[in-house]
Amino acid sequence: MTGRVAGKVVLISGGAQGMGASHAQLLAREGANVVIGDLKHEQGRELARAISAGGSGRAIYVPLDVTVETDWQSAYNTTMLAFGRLDVLVNNAGIAPQHGPLDQLPLEKWNLVLGINLTGAFLGIKHAVPHMRHGGGGSIINICSSAAIVGYAGVPAYTASKGGLRALTKQVANEYAKDLIRANAIFPGLIATPMNDGSAPERMKMLEEKVPFGKRRGRPEEVSQCVLHLASDESSFTTGGEFVIDGGFTSQ
Ligand SMILES: NC(=O)c1ccc[n+]([C@@H]2O[C@H](COP(=O)([O-])OP(=O)(O)OC[C@H]3O[C@@H](n4cnc5c(N)ncnc54)[C@H](O)[C@@H]3O)[C@@H](O)[C@H]2O)c1
Repeated sequence: MTGRVAGKVVLISGGAQGMGASHAQLLAREGANVVIGDLKHEQGRELARAISAGGSGRAIYVPLDVTVETDWQSAYNTTMLAFGRLDVLVNNAGIAPQHGPLDQLPLEKWNLVLGINLTGAFLGIKHAVPHMRHGGGGSIINICSSAAIVGYAGVPAYTASKGGLRALTKQVANEYAKDLIRANAIFPGLIATPMNDGSAPERMKMLEEKVPFGKRRGRPEEVSQCVLHLASDESSFTTGGEFVIDGGFTSQ
């Protein structure tokens, strides 16, 4: 352990699997106390147990549906009881259903995606700020997507939710700079997680072929390294920033 985030307290939404789980493992290994919030209770508890038992950091699990405001309040109450402060929030929970064309999209399906990916992050930030301010500052890391940079057919709600989160990041960075709270956005491209594991192999191959760097999906750890940097004091003057991790896809 090199302790790049030693003693920091980090809450990761959607941290039970995929990229969130990878962030939890790396941050704990680097000395953070990690709070994993998710809907997948068994998986989240098991991950927290494994991290703590591995001797490479401490982690706890809290049940968290990011769309439920009282869940956020309880998650932060538990965080305070366990660790006494909050330094970092990673708004990572998200869903990415393929919807097809916008003109055929039922309102409920639009609202579901916006509710989790954008409103969920809003609620997380809303209730994190007082704790971070009290602690003298903090770092908010919003996981957006390359879909907030270029347009993909078939995912209108996902695109709007990530574009909204991108803009919200800059708003939050400006609003809370005076409180020494930083806010940055990460834009992963195609990353190998359960989110896209179920996709047809031919489709995945076709998408990977479009990635200039290595013609492959990214690994969750390649995104976690950026999360680690933004969570640490190494990024002490970095706020309102945008970090693209997509093997060059959106540079084309
Ligand atoms: N995988 C990719 O290619 C990719 C690309 C760009 C952006 N992203 C974004 O990265 C983030 C993580 O994605 P992933 O690929 O690890 O996905 P994943 O599906 O593997 O994990 C997402 C996690 O979020 C949790 N979650 C879903 N709804 C929730 C809710 N209402 N409350 C709390 N937790 C909830 C899930 O239970 C799951 O554990 C998402 O925001 C996603 O949009 C993923």
